[in-house]
Amino acid sequence: MLNILKDHHFIEYYTTGFVETGIFLPDSLVEEIKQYYQTLAVGRNDFPKFFVNNEHLAFLEGQILGTLFKLFPKLAKKMVKSLYDKTYTKAIYHEQVFLEKVCKHLLANGFQKIFKTRYLLASYDMYLRSNTTHTAAGIHSDMPNFHHFYETENDLSIYIPLIDLNEENGGRITVLPESQLKVPGNIVLALMEQHFSKDANHLDENGYIVPESIRPDALNAFIKSKPFQEIMACYKSLTHLAKHHYAGNFEKSQEEQGKVLLWNNKNFHAAEGWKREDQDREVYVIRLFPLYDTKIKLKESLHGKLFNNHLIDFETGEIHKFDHQVDVSQLPKQDKLALA
Ligand SMILES: [Fe+2]
Repeated sequence: MLNILKDHHFIEYYTTGFVETGIFLPDSLVEEIKQYYQTLAVGRNDFPKFFVNNEHLAFLEGQILGTLFKLFPKLAKKMVKSLYDKTYTKAIYHEQVFLEKVCKHLLANGFQKIFKTRYLLASYDMYLRSNTTHTAAGIHSDMPNFHHFYETENDLSIYIPLIDLNEENGGRITVLPESQLKVPGNIVLALMEQHFSKDANHLDENGYIVPESIRPDALNAFIKSKPFQEIMACYKSLTHLAKHHYAGNFEKSQEEQGKVLLWNNKNFHAAEGWKREDQDREVYVIRLFPLYDTKIKLKESLHGKLFNNHLIDFETGEIHKFDHQVDVSQLPKQDKLALA
């Protein structure tokens, strides 16, 4: 994150887990976002889609669920669905309706001053809604997964509560700062590059790995490979450490409606229970990915829908929207980050 955030924001991030942007969305935009998601079906939860063929996630949930996925995939899918239904009324991925508008507002209000890196990919957006009957998300880190195929330890979430999150309402996000415990992630991208570049069938004319060309059996071979399994074992033991030895060290944020906060969803985090009976907890999130000097193309679609097609340029203060995924091979090498 040192190469991504300007030094004083890096120190804030490193020690507290958060970066305060000092930027608010106007009430009218907050209302527009709420109105839009209000019209979408109650009970729509996109999280379980990430569990199909995503064996490493099942592995993390413990050996029993992992085995269940292999033996009784339908039953395991039902279990995952009911697990996530208990957490959210709605968990809606990449509608992409407000992504550009929100980023343009941020850039018009000095968002670029926070960053050292020239580019960030605005990959997809997310809306989460829950009420007092739902259980809050416990301590976890958002593990990299093959549906995205391009995640590192430095992913940033633009986090915008659509209602106040405070002592009285609850619902605050808590984060274990990187100064306390670091979760490695760039190594996954490096291992993927190493592994898949060996097979010419996975490469385009520029020698970039095309994630869509990787067949399930080839992906499976990578998942079973020793280095990847070692990383998974490391994640598992770090999660155990975070839950059992660092639970008291998580930092809270006080969040007002429309206030824009940044944090890294690869660091350990949890959400506080929601206390307000009369209103639901609603949060809008945009996932930002730094771009690395690695020969891996971005995926073009997530669960059948275009994503990875917005590029923020902090030098010009613009967001570029493409009708395909951002072509990372066209970005100058000096404007990409070293993976190591
Ligand atoms: Fe999370």
